[in-house]
Amino acid sequence: MAHRIAVIGGDGIGPEVTAEALKVVRASGVQLDTTDFDLGGARYLRDGEILSDEVLQQLRGFDAILLGAVGTPEVPPGVIERGLLLKMRFELDLYVNQRPFIGTAPGGTVPHDFVVIRENTEGPYVGEGGVLRKGTPNEVATQGSVNTRMGAERAIRYAFELAMVRRKHVTLVHKTNVLTFAGDLWQRAFNDVAAEYPEVSTAYNHVDAACIYFVQDPQRYDLIVTDNLFGDILTDLGGAVSGGIGLASSANLNPARTGPSMFEPVHGSAPDIVGTGKANPTAAVLSAALMLDFLGESAAADRVRAACDEPVSGSTSDIGSQIAARVAI
Ligand code: IPM
Ligand code: MN
Repeated sequence: MAHRIAVIGGDGIGPEVTAEALKVVRASGVQLDTTDFDLGGARYLRDGEILSDEVLQQLRGFDAILLGAVGTPEVPPGVIERGLLLKMRFELDLYVNQRPFIGTAPGGTVPHDFVVIRENTEGPYVGEGGVLRKGTPNEVATQGSVNTRMGAERAIRYAFELAMVRRKHVTLVHKTNVLTFAGDLWQRAFNDVAAEYPEVSTAYNHVDAACIYFVQDPQRYDLIVTDNLFGDILTDLGGAVSGGIGLASSANLNPARTGPSMFEPVHGSAPDIVGTGKANPTAAVLSAALMLDFLGESAAADRVRAACDEPVSGSTSDIGSQIAARVAI
């Protein structure tokens, strides 16, 4: 049976890389029944639609959502990000953002292979806070980080479950030496879950130290679990030490499967190179491989990943065609 996929190409290079990801999945033999949704900054500029409750309700009916990139320089920061991307993450309860990194850090010799589990529904992303006396010299802005025991624990538990089928090692990354309230909640939740998984060894790094290890010693990691904002920043660095952001894939997961999960490259809409054919679709293709894993199509997903391991060259569509030819059965 064909998997029912909602496709949001989005803005900039988003539609270009998404088309290649679909080309590769179709070549793998996996049947997809796709429906395009015209959403993003360009749509917003045209008629004001960002993500209505009605469209959100339609999205709930799909098996998965494949997203390219959203955001355009003509729309002020935050409008599309909060109104579309974060709204989907929150409303569809995509509480795990899983971002795998494989490569050799620039200047390094030993390859690494690790996964960041980023909590995806809480932290400073929730929009808590506000502004007082705006535009005056006495302006005040607050933006609180919201951390619930339930939210931290479910992301941590997901990491430990994944650890059982990987190298049985999980590192918590936080800033417990300064964020003594949130960090303490995370540390206790981590310790309690760890006690349920005696076979899994654990480590802790402050986020600033983790930045050094990402560059100098990423082999120490197998699974990292961290909060939403630390995870956002660390995963751009993860991409930079793993062959570049053009290869960085991600899965926004609802592991409870109460609705569809969403798959998107870590990179943005790159309006500076739209239409040039310079965008590398590999991150979108690898995100589609994560989607195949989640849809129970692991054999096809493994073939797509293996195909992405071989060198590629040429334009966006050349690269997509090269990868597609390798996965064709
Ligand atoms: C990401 C992006 C988003 C985030 C932006 C576009 C809201 O940077 O997926 O990493 O901050 O989560
Ligand atoms: Mn980011």
